[in-house]
Amino acid sequence: MSFRVPLLLVFLAFVQVILAGSPHPSAKYPALIDATLMSLSEGLESKSFSSVDLVNAYSARISEVQDDFHAVLELNPDALSIASSLDRERSRAHIRGPLHGIPILLKDLIGTKDKMNTTAGSYALLGARLPQDSTIAKKLREAGAILLGKTSVSEWANFRSFNSSNGWCARVGQAYGPYYPGQDPWGSSTGSAIGASLGLAWANIGTETDGYMVIPVSSHLDTIGTLARTVKDAAYLLQAIAGKDPNDNYTSAIPNVPNYVKACKLSGLSGMRIGVPRNAIALGSTTTFEPAQSTAFEKALSVLRNAGAIIVDNTNLTAAEEFWTSSIPGQVVSADFLVDLPKFLSKLNTNPNKITDLSSLRAFVQNYPSEEYPDRDTGIWDVTLLGFNSTSPEFWVAYQKNLFYGTEGGLLGALDRHNLDAVIMPADYSAHHFAAPVGAPVVTVPMGVYPAGSTIVKDPRGLVERAEGIPFGLSFLGRRWSEEKLIEMAYAFEQRTNFRSKVKPYKVPKTELRDVVGR
Ligand SMILES: *[C@@H]1O[C@H](CO)[C@@H](O)[C@H](O)[C@H]1NC(C)=O
Ligand SMILES: *[C@@H]1O[C@H](CO)[C@@H](O)[C@H](O)[C@H]1NC(C)=O
Ligand SMILES: *[C@@H]1O[C@H](CO)[C@@H](O)[C@H](O)[C@H]1NC(C)=O
Ligand SMILES: *[C@@H]1O[C@H](CO)[C@@H](O)[C@H](O)[C@H]1NC(C)=O
Ligand SMILES: *[C@@H]1O[C@H](CO)[C@@H](O)[C@H](O)[C@H]1NC(C)=O
Repeated sequence: MSFRVPLLLVFLAFVQVILAGSPHPSAKYPALIDATLMSLSEGLESKSFSSVDLVNAYSARISEVQDDFHAVLELNPDALSIASSLDRERSRAHIRGPLHGIPILLKDLIGTKDKMNTTAGSYALLGARLPQDSTIAKKLREAGAILLGKTSVSEWANFRSFNSSNGWCARVGQAYGPYYPGQDPWGSSTGSAIGASLGLAWANIGTETDGYMVIPVSSHLDTIGTLARTVKDAAYLLQAIAGKDPNDNYTSAIPNVPNYVKACKLSGLSGMRIGVPRNAIALGSTTTFEPAQSTAFEKALSVLRNAGAIIVDNTNLTAAEEFWTSSIPGQVVSADFLVDLPKFLSKLNTNPNKITDLSSLRAFVQNYPSEEYPDRDTGIWDVTLLGFNSTSPEFWVAYQKNLFYGTEGGLLGALDRHNLDAVIMPADYSAHHFAAPVGAPVVTVPMGVYPAGSTIVKDPRGLVERAEGIPFGLSFLGRRWSEEKLIEMAYAFEQRTNFRSKVKPYKVPKTELRDVVGR
């Protein structure tokens, strides 16, 4: 089914989480909060533990912190039997690849044909059945990954309400970030980011539209990405999902997929030309300006310079101000949603609530009490229903304009004018907005943390947006298909800073492999 897939957005930390990792080469049981693919594979190879043990341990960790963070919507009831069959394959020396027998979590937009639901966090699609796996789910299964569960989302990928909150969905309620009580978890790949922060699985899959959906938001903009503890682990996961998809013609321009794992080298910043689009950063800063972030950003520039990068300042995005206030990007996403949603729904094998298009979806949500309407309105859909759709001539005008915001007027223009390999921005300052119009990749790594004494800032629903101990990230944005280069740079930065080791969730799950092995 035309689930939009392996476009290559590696967005490590859609929430402000992610992080460089510390290996535990000698430990028999790697600490699961930090366990890298390498340490898990070594343990499986040496029979210190099995994939069944990993499923048991990660499932227990998820349960332990579910009431605190609401990171997961459901677990795969078949995960243990899948793990067991992958253990048997391993014992016959049949190893499918690096992900063999490794549990991962999927955002609840990623379609799976199994006992799990695919609902975008809403009751509307609960109980619906898909005719087949999304391409990404199929590829992950073939690579030997265990699809352990579905993570919570900002409902409908934040494409429903003008008055909801990051990380809220009807099925599990408000999710929270793990670095401060009541932390705004961002989103919409909320649970996948929390999962990465707490070691609820080896790694996680998220999505970006900016709008977005694999339950579609916008076929012109949706992309899938990885959220992991380290750049290298994100690279391993990207390797398994990247490539052309016959069900998704937007992927037909993807060149040969390079070796992303080999791109993880310490010298990755040497000679790279990296731009700083001050005007775009200033736009984000008007609402989220905070000295800790700008100080950390300037320090990051020194790290990059010391690692051999050439920093080119003031590589401004010429149409950034116009883009920032333009209604065009919203029109494009809305127009796509009007067409892509019914197309997706028409493929369902069962559709218990008979949702066939946006009107029937809106009617369901407005009448189903757990969807918390009208407190959480359907404003985005109300506006969408009044507009044109992606088959109309108006769409092409809007779409071309939106492309301009990503090409000459935006990211690609700046890259070309200044002959850059990437531009960087504080991740909070909406790095994803600037890459999304052209489906360009972004890699985000930790850059710093709000220090002791930071003023606590809350959103209108009381979620804590800023407080001591909450981390924030640095984003590298590049040309289409430049993931390899972005990984080189992000890895080299991560290895030199290791901010991951400097941030700690205020509560972490305690179950470790030693608690489950042999039980
Ligand atoms: C999917 O939703 C149905 C309907 O609510 C429920 O019975 C089932 O347990 C859910 N699947 C999982 C894996 O939770
Ligand atoms: C938006 O949500 C807030 C918090 O629940 C509520 O106080 C406010 O009335 C809502 N606004 C609208 C327009 O629904
Ligand atoms: C992709 O493009 C080819 C060639 O134009 C067309 O035959 C095919 O139906 C398209 N596939 C999808 C899923 O749109
Ligand atoms: C880039 O933007 C910054 C911030 O808006 C501004 O101060 C600077 O003059 C601009 N530089 C160029 C070369 O346009
Ligand atoms: C798109 O809009 C046109 C009118 O401009 C209409 O005929 C068509 O049915 C709409 N398609 C969908 C899927 O809403």
